[in-house]
This record gives sequence, structure tokens and C-alpha cells, in this order.
Amino acid sequence: MPSMHRIQLDRADTPEQAAECAARTLETAARVAVEQRGAFSLALSGGSTPLLLFRLLSSPEWRDHLPWAQTTVAWVDERCVAPEHADSNYGAARAALTPLARVRRVLPMDGGLPPEEGALAYERDLSIAFSLPDGEMPRFDCILLGMGGDGHTASLFPGSSGLLEMRRAVRAQYPVTAPHARLTLTLPVLNAARLCLVLVTGREKRAPLRRALSLLEEPDLPIQYLKPDRGTLHWIVDAAAAGSDGAKATLK
Ligand code: 6PG
Repeated sequence: MPSMHRIQLDRADTPEQAAECAARTLETAARVAVEQRGAFSLALSGGSTPLLLFRLLSSPEWRDHLPWAQTTVAWVDERCVAPEHADSNYGAARAALTPLARVRRVLPMDGGLPPEEGALAYERDLSIAFSLPDGEMPRFDCILLGMGGDGHTASLFPGSSGLLEMRRAVRAQYPVTAPHARLTLTLPVLNAARLCLVLVTGREKRAPLRRALSLLEEPDLPIQYLKPDRGTLHWIVDAAAAGSDGAKATLK
């Protein structure tokens, strides 16, 4: 059954303009969510790409644009390290996204637990936060994602068993091409989102981005499994990642 998700692509000239475009997109998604449901649920990815966006959202110009008091912030994935560790996604967001101090609810993944326990604990946290009946997947208003040079997203790496997970909301993963055991949301959660916002910048992402946007029938990159069935897959890329002929051309 082909997915009916919408695809949108915005191409910015610079990483800063891409971050600004992402901030405006988040602001709109948050306003609609609060108008329609009285709350906004957002899941953040780690890595370096979102840091420009986090700092922009923390700036005097932007820090009051999102309805933080009605917002629940969760994580897409986490390295199994303590929050103080330099590689902690939660630790990096806590330092760069200062409005986290005033959100309605923050749901960090517990990188200090044994990974399998951490995955079960986070499933319990999500079930409580979303008041989920048993077995139901949380539906985020927005999930902010990045893409690795190998086409991974979240902590779903090429060839990983996590890509095949259809029952669990959170899985422990043990990548061989990246440091640390990880906790990650699974594709059923990512694809349940109202909006998957994928922010990709930098020349080193050009080749995987071109493949990711080629809409191949048979996905072979993890990020090509992103098909939010009842939502929108919104790419925001910069010129360095899109290349001179522009990512739009690839979408045709
Ligand atoms: C992580 C991220 C991961 C990230 C990509 C891109 O924990 O590493 O969630 O999926 O989005 O690896 O990372 P960069 O933004 O650093 O290129």
C-alpha cells in the first residue's frame, strides 16, 4: 500500500537560513497543535545539525515564539551515556536550547540504564505522557530528524534490526559504525508523526541526500523508510547539501 504522506522540500542558501526555516516551520506546527489540541509534542534528534536551530530558538528574537509552557519535549534517540557526557543528546540540547527550562514536560531518555532497560523505561514514559492504551504508538506533532552520511536517521542505521521493528516504540541499538549503544524511537513512531522535519546541511550530506530524495521504489537507506502515513515529510536542506542543480530537481 503506497504511503499517502505529503512531501515538502525547502532549500536554503546557508545553514543559518535552514535553521531559520526550521524555526518558522516549528512555530507554525506548534501554533496549530495548541489551537487544535491545547498542547504541542516535539521530539528532538541529536548530532550537530540541530544546534544552530536550538541556539536560534534560544535567542532573544525567537525564545518566546514557541508555546513552551504547552510543549512536551522528548528525544528521538540517545547515546547510552550519562547526561553530563559530551556525547549525550539530552546534555547537548539542555545546553543549547535554553527554553527547555520552561517547557511543560521534558522526557529525556535514560542513557544511564542498561540499554534494553532504558528502552522499556522510555516506552513506559511515552505511554504515560501520551496516555496511551496498551500497544498504541505515540503520535508526535513534530519529530525533528537529521541524516547521517550513511543515510541513517534517529539511531536506525543501515542493516540494523531496528529498521524492521513494527511492534516496539523504542529499541536499544548497538551500531558498529557509530560510538555508544543507543536508544531510538522506531519507524512506527516516526511514521505516526504529524510532521517529520528533516534538517540536512553540509557538503558531506550531498550524496546520501540525493539518494534519499530519489524516491526509489525500494528504499535502501534508513531515511528512505520515513513515510509519515498521516502526516508530512518536510525536508529543509542547505545549498551545500542540495548541490548546484538543487534538490528540487531530484524530487521530480
Ligand atoms: C544522533 C542523531 C543522528 C543524527 C545524524 C546526523 O544521535 O547522532 O540523532 O540521527 O541526526 O547522525 O548527525 P549530524 O547532525 O551531526 O550530521
